[in-house]
Amino acid sequence: MNPSPDRRSLLLSALALASCAGGDTRAQSAPVRPLRETLPFPIGTAIMTGQLDDSQHAVLTRTHFSQLTPEWELKMEYVLQADGSYRFDAPDRLAAVAQANGQRFYGTTLVWYSQENPAFQALDGRRDAFVSAYRHYILQVCRRYAGRAVAWDVVNEPVAEDGAGLRTHLWSRNLGEVGHMVAAFRHAEEADPAALRVLNEYHLESRPAKRATLLRLTERLLAADAPITCLGTQTHLGLDQDPRQITETLRLLGGFGLPIHVSELDISVQAASPFTPVAELLDRQARLAGAVLEALMALPERQRFALTLWGVRDRDSWLRGPAGGRPLTPDRPLLFDDDGQAKPAFHALAGRARS
Ligand code: G3I
Repeated sequence: MNPSPDRRSLLLSALALASCAGGDTRAQSAPVRPLRETLPFPIGTAIMTGQLDDSQHAVLTRTHFSQLTPEWELKMEYVLQADGSYRFDAPDRLAAVAQANGQRFYGTTLVWYSQENPAFQALDGRRDAFVSAYRHYILQVCRRYAGRAVAWDVVNEPVAEDGAGLRTHLWSRNLGEVGHMVAAFRHAEEADPAALRVLNEYHLESRPAKRATLLRLTERLLAADAPITCLGTQTHLGLDQDPRQITETLRLLGGFGLPIHVSELDISVQAASPFTPVAELLDRQARLAGAVLEALMALPERQRFALTLWGVRDRDSWLRGPAGGRPLTPDRPLLFDDDGQAKPAFHALAGRARS
């Protein structure tokens, strides 16, 4: 278990939470114990350097979370410049914050269809140069955090949206549909043998075809001796999610005997009618959060790698950005509301779903 935050942090978090009531006379939520001390497995969150100067965010993050994932600043889009140079200023800061807070540091992601970087596009079709640059990139990034990164999403979202096969892209075109993945896992192992190497995917609990293809891919990669040592299911949910499929997904993934990471949990409330009372939305959200907890707890302890939320407060969520569309009311996908108050979904994870 990670060292719990010191008493100062706990006092600060209590003050921060108390101040989250906006100083008015609204009922104060019950004092909340740090999630990182409540749960029997590491609990993480996504973070970016733009949040480091936000004191409420900082207190909530170090109080409740024992693992940090750079939300975008350790991805190729940030690290690799068009001229082939690297920048690590932001992820280095986030790694230092994790170390200071006694938190694990989680790397996402090395190879992703949606990040075809210009430096690699310039090598498209030039196999030897591409092979060399691909290995160099993974070695450069993974070696830098060797001894600090607990794990890496080595290959992210390999399955086609409809689940009918695997995505094709710059990486598969130059290094093979499966070959680019085997190579990535091997380069990551060479760079930092101690870090877990994760195959990470989304919508496995809502698209059976996608889950089936991911399971077959995992078999294929393991049969090809790809050194995969963890499986990630992002778990971006909506209120229309069948909780039984969450349990089934973790059961099927767990069948490989590897640690399982719920890697990017958020629970959008946008699927519900805009006229649904907020209390009902948050109750349904809490029940799904509880289902995720139960699904993880149904795995053997050695397979419960971590549960990572994709952000701290609702207003920190990517779903509040362009990707979330322009809903009638802003989404509320995370454990803390815009004021930093713990929501029913928090209490579902903390073992006390509110009535
Ligand atoms: O903050 C900078 C801003 O300073 C700059 O002017 C602007 C234009 O370059 O970029 C801003 O950074 C953006 C960042 O989000 C913060 O908002 C990046 O462009 C943008 O690419 C980045 O998007 C991230 C996205 O992955 C792509 O990396 C999202 O934050 C992040 O939530 C999202 O996370 C993904 C997971 O990695 C994979 N699963 C799905 C999940 C949601 O899409």
